[in-house]
Amino acid sequence: MIGRLNHVAIAVPNLEKATERYHLTLGAEVSEPQALPDHGVTVVFVQLENTKIELLHPLGENSPITGFLARHPEGGIHHMCFEVNDLADAAARLVASGARILGDGKPKVGAHGLPVLFLHPKDFDGTLIELEEVKPEMQPA
Ligand code: CO
Repeated sequence: MIGRLNHVAIAVPNLEKATERYHLTLGAEVSEPQALPDHGVTVVFVQLENTKIELLHPLGENSPITGFLARHPEGGIHHMCFEVNDLADAAARLVASGARILGDGKPKVGAHGLPVLFLHPKDFDGTLIELEEVKPEMQPA
């Protein structure tokens, strides 16, 4: 059911320093910071050959990663995102198998403008999992 690893998201206490580490120390291609007010985060995309890393920093009052950074002041892996072809089908199969979808269970538009869902970390070995719908024709060859 799941396809490619779309990204690994890391919550970081200092976006500038984290970006510098990926760009200068690790030699990766990094984007400019992008404010995503609807998601309560500012993101820097680190483009790797086979996937992306997203550096997440809280934006605004009710950022979903504020609590995470309070528990992990040095930052840490926040979630992983897997691609699926059909999010509604994936959600139905997951719910049938007893997995819990966070929020109201309905897909939302994610950071890349595509539908996403988040799965309860308690159902997946303590790891928050995001599923993003990427149609096969949208995938790079
Ligand atoms: Co994500």
